[in-house]
Amino acid sequence: MRSDGNLAVMSLRRTALALLVLIGLIAPGDALKCNCTNCEKSGYECETDGACMASTSYIKGQEQHVRICIPRESLIPPGQPIYCLSAEGVLNTHCCYTDYCNSVDLQVPNGVPKHESWPGTPGSWGPVELVAVIAGPVFVFCLLLIVGVFLFQHHQRNYNHRQRLDVEDPSCDHLYLAKDKTLQDLIFDLSTSGSGSGLPLFVQRTVARTIVLQEIIGKGRFGEVWRGKWRGGDVAVKIFSSREERSWFREAEIYQTIMLRHENILGFIAADNKDNGTWTQLWLVSDYHEHGSLFDYLNHYSVTIEGMIKLALSAASGLAHLHMEILGTQGKPGIAHRDLKSKNILVKKNGTCAIADLGLAVRHESITDTIDIAPNQRVGTKRYMAPEVLDETINMKHFDSFKCADIYALGLVYWEIARRCNAGGIHEEYQLPYYDLVPSDPSIEEMRKVVCDQRLRPNVPNWWQSYEALRVMGKIMRECWYANGAARLTALRIKKTLSQLSVQEDVKM
Ligand SMILES: Nc1ncnc2c1ncn2[C@@H]1O[C@H](COP(=O)(O)OP(=O)(O)OP(=O)(O)O)[C@@H](O)[C@H]1O
Ligand SMILES: [Mg+2]
Repeated sequence: MRSDGNLAVMSLRRTALALLVLIGLIAPGDALKCNCTNCEKSGYECETDGACMASTSYIKGQEQHVRICIPRESLIPPGQPIYCLSAEGVLNTHCCYTDYCNSVDLQVPNGVPKHESWPGTPGSWGPVELVAVIAGPVFVFCLLLIVGVFLFQHHQRNYNHRQRLDVEDPSCDHLYLAKDKTLQDLIFDLSTSGSGSGLPLFVQRTVARTIVLQEIIGKGRFGEVWRGKWRGGDVAVKIFSSREERSWFREAEIYQTIMLRHENILGFIAADNKDNGTWTQLWLVSDYHEHGSLFDYLNHYSVTIEGMIKLALSAASGLAHLHMEILGTQGKPGIAHRDLKSKNILVKKNGTCAIADLGLAVRHESITDTIDIAPNQRVGTKRYMAPEVLDETINMKHFDSFKCADIYALGLVYWEIARRCNAGGIHEEYQLPYYDLVPSDPSIEEMRKVVCDQRLRPNVPNWWQSYEALRVMGKIMRECWYANGAARLTALRIKKTLSQLSVQEDVKM
């Protein structure tokens, strides 16, 4: 028994064939003439090089007779061509090979109820179905062709893209990240030969992603700071929470200002934003300094006169470099820190300072005399805000105003250092500036009353006058704290004064 599927295939083929003959796509060969029920135009006759065929079936309750020509190439398989097969109980078919031999009247096959029809019989199809039979496969074929062409082009594009990326891709890092290189080598090689703004971004990413975090070492406003390991050396990793993305971006941007690198500015290594699917991890990788911040350091240790001068002079050198504009193609813009305080200065192993946390800094574009971001009125830490910041009289159009505000804060940091200076066996306990005048987390209003209204400043003890170094430090502080920002010392002036002092006191930097 043949399946319905087979019958459907047979019927479909037969119909398509009849149609092709009908529309003249198959040129009849010479010889055999047959009756043709569908060939009105040629007098119900057709010619073929194959066989004549007659078939009878029931369609929609009606007895249908079809007579057509079958071309030779369609007579497959040779012994029993599928076009010539009857379907038991459904379709009676007869093929023959003499002229008009298909004029026979076949009987409707047994078992077909008079009211039923076999839906797949060609005679039951109207013009719409016939068009669908031909147009359908053509349409599917075209669709497959279009999809094929599209996939091919897509593949080609991806391939070309990959080829291009391979040049910049981290897979090329081995060119830069030779196994024996330390971070210092890398930064020296690439920042000195390159733009002077640090490692290429893809090297930054690779370094960041091969750091192994060790322990948390601090928490600040923007996230956590970790000690991490890279190739056996320590690095500091500041991890920003995802809502602090702007701060992360800004800090990375400032650190990558061309020619910023300086021994007294925290050495930036890499920025990376890693999306783990749920949240984005924002990393800022820098040199690690085991003493931590100057705040931590002064809390733990008192310092000698020499130690004080080293800290003060190096901090002034860092700030002078930050503030200074260097002209030329390999120059740097002037930068104001805007959040200078002892927690944002790190202490290096050799007892010198590195200024850190540049996230709030602003850069001066001297050609247009503008500032690179719209500076908001009051940023930074309230305790360290200059009087003109507290009372909002600062001229924000003038870049130097921000430098003057930094100098005020530097004076407060010097006061914190000098208090911890051990001269003649005396030193004071560590205290934050204004510890005796404002509460622990002062409001702007509380600070303004003390600093602007009462014009109070941290106390400079008289005994400091007995020691040249402390006397000089006291004098510098006062000149950093003037209410009038423009009257304050510059970082460069302070650096020069302290350099002289270091020579006088025979300090080895
Ligand atoms: N590069 C570093 N090396 C060693 N310790 C560091 C480094 N950077 C930061 N720390 C430590 O992590 C602490 C937190 O730093 P972070 O800058 O996040 O906050 P903060 O300076 O204490 O406060 P703020 O958010 O107000 O800046 C620092 O106080 C310091 O002890
Ligand atoms: Mg900080």
